[in-house]
Amino acid sequence: MSLYRNAVWFLSGIHQYTRNGYEAASKDFEPQDLSVSVVGRSFMITGANSGIGRATAMTIAKKGGTVHMVCRNKDKAEEAREDIVNQSGNTEVHVHVVDLSETHKVWEFAEAFKKQHPSLNVLINNAGCMVHKRELNADGLEKNFATNTMGVYILTQTLIPLLQKSRDPRVITVSSGGMLVQKLRVDDLQSEKGHFDGVMVYAQNKRQQVVLTEQWAKANPIIHFSVMHPGWADTPAVSTSMPQFHHMMGERLRSVEQGADTVVWLALSRAAARTRSGQFFQDRRPVAAHLPLAWTRSSAEEVQSFMSQLETLANWVLLGCDLDFSLDAHTW
Ligand SMILES: NC(=O)c1ccc[n+]([C@@H]2O[C@H](COP(=O)([O-])OP(=O)(O)OC[C@H]3O[C@@H](n4cnc5c(N)ncnc54)[C@H](OP(=O)(O)O)[C@@H]3O)[C@@H](O)[C@H]2O)c1
Repeated sequence: MSLYRNAVWFLSGIHQYTRNGYEAASKDFEPQDLSVSVVGRSFMITGANSGIGRATAMTIAKKGGTVHMVCRNKDKAEEAREDIVNQSGNTEVHVHVVDLSETHKVWEFAEAFKKQHPSLNVLINNAGCMVHKRELNADGLEKNFATNTMGVYILTQTLIPLLQKSRDPRVITVSSGGMLVQKLRVDDLQSEKGHFDGVMVYAQNKRQQVVLTEQWAKANPIIHFSVMHPGWADTPAVSTSMPQFHHMMGERLRSVEQGADTVVWLALSRAAARTRSGQFFQDRRPVAAHLPLAWTRSSAEEVQSFMSQLETLANWVLLGCDLDFSLDAHTW
């Protein structure tokens, strides 16, 4: 079955996820969708110093939005900020140094942000990683899971009250089409069992993001949630984590701007806000979150188990530090 899933996925990827795929899809785009000013709206973008996140931050800054860049490396973040400010002429671009793999620090940052800022209109969960060796963070969580799933979960969950107070609030999570080959594995969220394959662990985390988005959308009707696949774009993540794939795809890879296009559309356009919350997008359109006949759908019990395990883990990490923090058990 997984051979079937991988083959179907790769073949559709060659058609759709490449530069050619973007150019074909973009013929149906409405150019006026992005003719909006976002002066007065604020956007938090994780991993905004590089690749898709940086291209997204640049476009939003050029349209007048206030940008909060959440990055783990201060020097890289400041260099990117300077470039964004110089190119956009917008000085409302702010750097926050946070490593999203450090669960407790993510929560501390989000709590402090909530106290310091009266509103946040859009959260873009863009940062992601693919670590090929099984490593643990300071809280004992597997690194890919800590960054791609728990970091997204804690940041979003903690900021939901602030987003709810803000006008036209949106949460966009940058997942990956790679998740299509994975069914949610509720009995092994942190890849403790069997052979550790970084590519598949990453894909499992990206499936977890899709399920999270669907559940958030059900639980929080005021906020517009979406999750998306950027296509295959030429970024440091691809060249360093998947060098053979990067070499093989070469010129067929999308530019970072093409990869960022749907993130920007979901963050800015009125058309995006009119779509049903909780969907998976590719090239400005909601698309199926499952391949045909791939048996990747989860039962309601499996989804419930996933959400409960996340909540328990979050409480365990945060309460373990003697903090009086509890994720609302009734949110789901
Ligand atoms: N490019 C593609 O073809 C493709 C395809 C599918 C999905 N995606 C997704 O697109 C998103 C953006 O990736 P990209 O392709 O634009 O790659 P990228 O240029 O390497 O950007 C990844 C960003 O995430 C940041 N990051 C990684 N781990 C972090 C952590 N623990 N804490 C804070 N920031 C962290 C990186 O920071 P540093 O610069 O400090 O490393 C960088 O800013 C990711 O979620 C990725 O999974 C990309």
